[in-house]
Amino acid sequence: MKILMVCLGNICRSPMAEGILRAKSTHLEIEVDSAGTSSYHYGENPDVRAVHTLRKKGINISNLIARQFTTADFDAFDIIFTMDKSNYDNVIALARSNQDKQKVRMLVNELHPGSNGEVPDPYFGGDQGFEDVYNLIDEATDKFLMRLQNEVQ
Ligand code: 4NP
Repeated sequence: MKILMVCLGNICRSPMAEGILRAKSTHLEIEVDSAGTSSYHYGENPDVRAVHTLRKKGINISNLIARQFTTADFDAFDIIFTMDKSNYDNVIALARSNQDKQKVRMLVNELHPGSNGEVPDPYFGGDQGFEDVYNLIDEATDKFLMRLQNEVQ
């Protein structure tokens, strides 16, 4: 299964989500990547605050490189998790078919089904925002993997 994490810049939330899910799914046949709906930070490594927050948890995302979401990602991935409603709307706007649209989900709905809750953008805030993003993504990806494993059994 191939999973794409999407946020706005692809330097804070989605590379964190990529690193977190990859770290906890090494025993599963899951591939994880991430992208941004914008090209603002194309080619850059993740924000140092995101790197430091995950380094404390034993996860290294320092080598990831930001890229922009494209329609080809609908073909390459099975599930596309967006971090907030704005990312969701931007990805849905690029969908070419209902099949594309059905791949797109809000990540926080894994934790709180139907809530359409968001992973808040930590870019303009302080370090605590990154810690909060870590905790929310950690919980949401735990729930996602739990559900996935129940489906397989
Ligand atoms: P991200 O955070 O979407 O979680 O990567 C942001 C990074 C950069 C900007 C906004 C959000 N920016 O406006 O440059």
